[in-house]
Amino acid sequence: MKWLKSLALMSAMVISVVAQASPAAIKHQFTAQTKADAKVSVLLVGANQTAQVTGWSADTQAMVSAALAAKDFTGAPQQIVEILAPVGLASERLLVAGVGDSESFNRVAAEKLGAALWSYLPETADAKHAVSVDARLLNNANLVAAIAHGMDLRDYRFDRYKSNPAKTEVRHVQWAVNQVPSVADHYADYAAIAGGVFMARDIINLPGGDGYPQAIAEMVEKAVKPLGIKVTVLNPRQVERAGMGALYGVSKGSEHKAYLLALQWQGSKDAPIALVGKGNTFDTGGYNLKTSSASILRMQTDKAGGGAVIGAVMALAGQKAPVNVVAVVPLSHNLISGSALLPGDVVTAGDGTRIEVANTDAEGRLILADGIWYARDKFKPRVIADIATLTGSKVGALGTAYSAVFTEQDDVLRSMQQAGEATAELVWQLPLGPYPGIIKSNLADIANVGSPGAQAGAVFLQHFAKDTPFIHIDMAGNAYSTSANGIHPAGGNGYGVRLLTEWVKIYADIAE
Ligand code: BES
Ligand code: MN
Ligand code: ZN
Repeated sequence: MKWLKSLALMSAMVISVVAQASPAAIKHQFTAQTKADAKVSVLLVGANQTAQVTGWSADTQAMVSAALAAKDFTGAPQQIVEILAPVGLASERLLVAGVGDSESFNRVAAEKLGAALWSYLPETADAKHAVSVDARLLNNANLVAAIAHGMDLRDYRFDRYKSNPAKTEVRHVQWAVNQVPSVADHYADYAAIAGGVFMARDIINLPGGDGYPQAIAEMVEKAVKPLGIKVTVLNPRQVERAGMGALYGVSKGSEHKAYLLALQWQGSKDAPIALVGKGNTFDTGGYNLKTSSASILRMQTDKAGGGAVIGAVMALAGQKAPVNVVAVVPLSHNLISGSALLPGDVVTAGDGTRIEVANTDAEGRLILADGIWYARDKFKPRVIADIATLTGSKVGALGTAYSAVFTEQDDVLRSMQQAGEATAELVWQLPLGPYPGIIKSNLADIANVGSPGAQAGAVFLQHFAKDTPFIHIDMAGNAYSTSANGIHPAGGNGYGVRLLTEWVKIYADIAE
């Protein structure tokens, strides 16, 4: 065990990677008052409320009322009216934003509103006097915090490959709220989630040439240790020696061999909830090469499932959530060379299953087979959820509005659906069967492909979960936003972090 640790340390010294979770660029300050000299003032107004602030002059009030009437402002959610040079106010602009009625205005709507407001604000606002938000008409501490969180989620940038990145100035937002301590508490929990989302985005956005298995393992190890997360890093020799031939095999053709990462946040004495994320750091397809330029481009996002489970554990640790959760991330580099896997080769997984690699492009299930086995064997979890950019077939069936979930346990399904609705990371169930013979192999025990495609992947992975309650999440297509939209900036969006953070807490409460 000792040499194992020093080996991991040694490898950590070989390479140092620049990447780290992006620093928060917005500083929120929750107070009882508005900031009169703010460049931009925002007033939040509910559906049946009047846009009215104590201290406004009659002229200001009349102007605001007239402007809102001219725009048919009803206080509906996401409705934003911008008033330039408001009479009697020191601010250059006043934004009046609707929050709707208290029934429909929930976390998701609040986050969206925050993101929408943020996209309205000038990039170069004076750092000291930037923004003042009057949230005193919205009497819900959690939702005020969620609006601030929505701003943070939208504010992320990944510019380490730009020669002249726009200067990241810390921008200050001062909030006038009714319950200062309660808003601050809720916001701290959301900030932990944002930290996890940013880490996931950083992981996804790293190009395949720089974000190979060892680099990701080291970057994550460094980032999570301060959070009190227990980290285990298996290097390629250790992966091979542990018998994880399926994980090892996928990276055989690359100079960058396989790693395995395990992160545990032990916030309770219960048996752990295991999250297993696909960390294929680049997917060329292997000898079943991805032959169109469109299909191979962006395959650096094939580590998004890994990013999601890492981000979720970071979020839960940051919140000091009373849950016992472990993330297992098999890390691979699916490349070609004289030593790469060949179609038709047989690999032996950690649990002893012999797998015919009928298609080298179905690599995700190979590395996850060992990730799931490792989670089961080492942590004896009460449930395993895996998340992966696994199949094009899933994208064909559901597009990107949903990820596909496969499970035989009702409570697992229901809790995941509930988490999906709470976070707008929606899931839709597809069946695990009956598909007799779907992954049958004449050569070995099972094959890594079958039809229908998304289901074959799911049935294959279920084999390695054995008797442990299990859910597979196919998030292919969901990891990357081609343009900024809502809480997502363009690029890696961190899909899955919010879903899994929520799910772990819900599931921990219903299961024992
Ligand atoms: N990483 C891909 C799946 C993928 C496709 C993710 C599109 C995101 C967008 C996965 O490894 C893959 O190549 N799957 C194959 C499986 C097939 C060979 C059985 C696929 O879906 O084509
Ligand atoms: Mn593939
Ligand atoms: Zn893949």
